[in-house]
Amino acid sequence: MISSLDQNLSENKTISETSNELELLARQYEGVINNLKEVVFQADIEGRWTFLNPAWETITGFSVAESLGKKYLNFVHINDRADNHSKFIPLINQDKDSCTHEVRYTKKSGEIVWIEVYAGRTYDEKGEVTGITGTLTDVTTKRLLDDEIRRTQRLESVGLLAAGIAHDFNNLLTVVLSNLSYMGSKPIIQNDGELDGCVMDAQKAGTRAKDLTQQLLTFAKGGAPICELTNIIETVKDAVALGVSGTEVSTFFEVAENIPQIEVDAGQISQAVHNVVLNAVEAMATDGEVKVEILFNKNKRVKPESSSEGEVLIKISDSGIGMSEETLEHLFDPYYSTKKRGSGLGLALVHSIIERHSGRVRVDSELDKGTTVNISLPGSCSAVKDVPKTAPEPKVSGGRVLVLDDNEQILRAITLLLRTINFEVETVVDGDKAVESYLRGAKEGRPFDVVISDLTIPDSMDGIETVQKIKEIDPDVVAIVSSGYSNDPVMSDPLKYGFKGVLEKPYSVDRLKRVLQSVLS
Ligand SMILES: Nc1ncnc2c1ncn2[C@@H]1O[C@H](COP(=O)(O)OP(=O)(O)O)[C@@H](O)[C@H]1O
Ligand SMILES: [Mg+2]
Repeated sequence: MISSLDQNLSENKTISETSNELELLARQYEGVINNLKEVVFQADIEGRWTFLNPAWETITGFSVAESLGKKYLNFVHINDRADNHSKFIPLINQDKDSCTHEVRYTKKSGEIVWIEVYAGRTYDEKGEVTGITGTLTDVTTKRLLDDEIRRTQRLESVGLLAAGIAHDFNNLLTVVLSNLSYMGSKPIIQNDGELDGCVMDAQKAGTRAKDLTQQLLTFAKGGAPICELTNIIETVKDAVALGVSGTEVSTFFEVAENIPQIEVDAGQISQAVHNVVLNAVEAMATDGEVKVEILFNKNKRVKPESSSEGEVLIKISDSGIGMSEETLEHLFDPYYSTKKRGSGLGLALVHSIIERHSGRVRVDSELDKGTTVNISLPGSCSAVKDVPKTAPEPKVSGGRVLVLDDNEQILRAITLLLRTINFEVETVVDGDKAVESYLRGAKEGRPFDVVISDLTIPDSMDGIETVQKIKEIDPDVVAIVSSGYSNDPVMSDPLKYGFKGVLEKPYSVDRLKRVLQSVLS
């Protein structure tokens, strides 16, 4: 501007010509500044706004007129005011010519907006500092996305750890429970009341440990959902009823009429809803009310990249104690709990189950007012169906089974179990031996009816490779994949990898029977 003014004067333009051009330039600058998405500001040395462009009103809801002359700090979120000053110190001390940081502002509506501040100093003609100038950019959406990514990454790393521990526990429990199951079936124990009681107690405790391990596995990377077309209304209603059972808390449902059946893992979704309702109950006085809404939005996608049209929204609200900001920040972290006897696993589990259904969980909460948990699920999910969970009462009549597992204790336990249901068993600890045994069986006229294979076997071909090898020899081989570590896609889509069935560890006689029945029939 200055250089063009110099030029104008040197070209001997009249004062009025120059002032017209100046006016034009000023209007141009005004046009640019008024149409910026970012706030352009100036503040005096005391921190009072002296200039704001219209973006200020768009972003904060406060008009420019009502804001000019007020201290900028009044608009900063109350919890961010204390250390806001320190962020400007390099600028004030003239250590730097500009500074940038992120801070929360409070909108006129009371909502929070994350602002990226970029500021520099202003000077008068004598070179004295007169205040600061710069831009304010609304970075709320980016912050929320970053938070979500960070949270997912954090959960992923804890998930890996949990999966590792749960996997080992599962193997140990397989041995314990299988042996107990075998002992329980022996007539000598069944005739001894005392021993029978001991075995039952041990079995109960073992089963509880198994359930906890399964919960950990479901939260961890494991437990890819096994989706089936489900009446989501029934699933939610049952889970809510279970969550409030034994309490005085009442429930209120508001269900839209157009809710379609959707493909979900009903067991996992009910686990998620159950956990949310438990939290709602725990947050309220004894006679509170949980409100549950189920809606269908046919034109909305849960995530922009989602291939499925439509979302089912499950909103679970309570009028309980609500959450502090700190809790809101950590509520999905595993082991984060504000309760004396909380496990802190509930919402971590909810998050991972819903994520694995390509859905989304959002929590709105206000201290002393209440909480709403919003679960969005896409209209479909692509995983393949498992063998039906309600198979008819098994009628297996024996046969020959080859079992591949690197853990000898597990092999001993499964051998005992298979024998109680009249199967002949041969066990092997690595993939090569499995292929060898399978070949020998066929050659000697004693072929195997079924191969049960672990997934991962250290220092050997894994279960998939082994079964592929056997398939080259005998394309009709009947193979079952067995694992306690169900994060592997094989466990949710066994057919794709050449297996006819899935056997989750630890297994009971009953589950063994059912799986064998389903693959042999
Ligand atoms: N409906 C709710 N109302 C108030 N606080 C809640 C609610 N749901 C969850 N929270 C908070 O989130 C924390 C984590 O929840 P969760 O993962 O289920 O673990 P836990 O219930 O074992 O503490 C709780 O300790 C509690 O502080
Ligand atoms: Mg909980």
